[in-house]
Amino acid sequence: MCGIVGYNGDRKASEIVYRGLKKLEYRGYDSAGIATAGNPTVKVEKGEGTIDDVSPEKKDGTSGVGHTRWATHGGVNDTNAHPHRDCTGDIAVVHNGIINNYEELKEKLENRGHEFKSETDTEVIPHLLEEQLEDEKPLHEAAQNVADTIEGSYAVVAVLDTGELVAFKNESPLALGVADEEFFLASDVTPFLEHTDEAIFLEDGEVITLNGDYQIFQNGEEVDREPRKVDWDAEEACKEGHEHFMEKEIKEQPQTVKKAAFQDETDMKEAVKMVEDAETVYLTGCGTASFAASLGAKYLREADVEVVTEQSHELEYRTDEINEDDLVIAVSQSGETADLLSTLDDSPAPTLAVVNVVGSTLARQSEHTLFVNAGPEIGVASTKAFTAQIAVLKLVQYALQDELEEGRRSILETAEKLDEVLRKNEGLMDDISSYLQEKNHVFTIGRDKGHEMAQEAALKLKELSYIHVEGFPGGEFKHGNLALIEEGVPVISFLKDTGYEDAISNTLEAKSRGADIIGVGSEPVDKFRFFIEIPKDPNSEILEIVPFQMIAYLTSVKKGNDPDKPRNLAKSVTVK
Ligand code: M6R
Repeated sequence: MCGIVGYNGDRKASEIVYRGLKKLEYRGYDSAGIATAGNPTVKVEKGEGTIDDVSPEKKDGTSGVGHTRWATHGGVNDTNAHPHRDCTGDIAVVHNGIINNYEELKEKLENRGHEFKSETDTEVIPHLLEEQLEDEKPLHEAAQNVADTIEGSYAVVAVLDTGELVAFKNESPLALGVADEEFFLASDVTPFLEHTDEAIFLEDGEVITLNGDYQIFQNGEEVDREPRKVDWDAEEACKEGHEHFMEKEIKEQPQTVKKAAFQDETDMKEAVKMVEDAETVYLTGCGTASFAASLGAKYLREADVEVVTEQSHELEYRTDEINEDDLVIAVSQSGETADLLSTLDDSPAPTLAVVNVVGSTLARQSEHTLFVNAGPEIGVASTKAFTAQIAVLKLVQYALQDELEEGRRSILETAEKLDEVLRKNEGLMDDISSYLQEKNHVFTIGRDKGHEMAQEAALKLKELSYIHVEGFPGGEFKHGNLALIEEGVPVISFLKDTGYEDAISNTLEAKSRGADIIGVGSEPVDKFRFFIEIPKDPNSEILEIVPFQMIAYLTSVKKGNDPDKPRNLAKSVTVK
């Protein structure tokens, strides 16, 4: 979770690294820093806040590294910000991940005379590298020895006073961008897309050195890796006139849902075969992606598939129940979520990935992948990736029922209605967000697929507005939660065709105890304080969630929060 950037070329590294870090702030924004090589040692500028708060002067030097942090070990302060240096000041290191054995390493290094400044696990790395380089080993060998000494998940990039860069990784993503005599290292491709679309995704255990060219080593031997084209457009990773990425990403959904529906027929056939051949299908993911997985389970059950669904961090404790004749469908935007990847590591079944990020660890490790094609999602809150995941999982249902073409057409028609849903409800969403911003507690309920809608709407609203929001099945209300209802507490109710009458009863039970009720559905009911009308549609979940993404966004802005960077969160959760 932390974003790292490295540059080696002929331009001012500090400027390129700074621009790259701006694109990675979604991975963490507790603190930031940049180190550049040259004149005569490595210069480091870092501190608490975003890279703009640290506002480093644009130093000379054509090699550098940068970091934007989501704190794991050590509090959020200037000293713990990356990059971290060795004793000589000739090496500066940025790191994403966790070093599990850092305490033991730190003690040994201190006994050997090394001085530590921060509370971070990262700081052991520059000191270990310093010792290796003192022995005059080749840089790649020195880095390999450090990689062999540390335990945990990490992507590490170091810059040396000579201008050389060295990087290595284990279980944390790192991509190399290759342009004409310029090289970029980054946690994902977005920082370098404006410079090149040629990339190599580093594998665990590989070491890369950059010094006017790149060399990749595996177990000390140089390996030949050719860059490949990444089909994400640099424009897509910009705000394009919107105030926030989140607003842009919500409004892109009429297009992204269509792109998701354009799955290649051969890919879909392979996915269908994997599902049909499986004894039991497990659907899993975390957060928003887990709600997509849970909806996917309901879609697949409608196509008579035996399905189990569980959030990855819980499924992890039951992987012994999965066997090699089963299938795991792993849903993820980033494809880097540690809870998901570690569950898959323990699972003997093949994986079908439903993922957004091309070249992600999940995509590379899965037996088969359906890319949801939402393009870069920069806002920390998942929006267009969620509707794209639903669209793909729904398409799998259609394909299993031998209705791939009809299904595709149907999802395209749903996507066509999205603009209208947003336009027609513009005033209402504004009113609801003004109303909600004054509240401390909100409940969201729904039955059947309305349950996942309620959970996702609750997650969007709480992570962006910092209001306490709970989402649960409507039927649960009277089993305890109703005790929390008092005058003026908002209850948002997703009214689907299945369980409609019961859902209305659950909502009115809350109203009769003083709740302000807000409805979402295709038939307006006049007892509601607000009602968001959604056209009847076979893929209605896609239409129902989008107004709540917008309400969450507007509430966040009205409360003075930053919707792109909600507090304490990061987009790619690469730690457990
Ligand atoms: O990248 P992933 O989809 O695997 O991330 C999983 C969750 O961390 C993520 O869906 C999170 O809940 C959302 N960003 C919340 O909006």
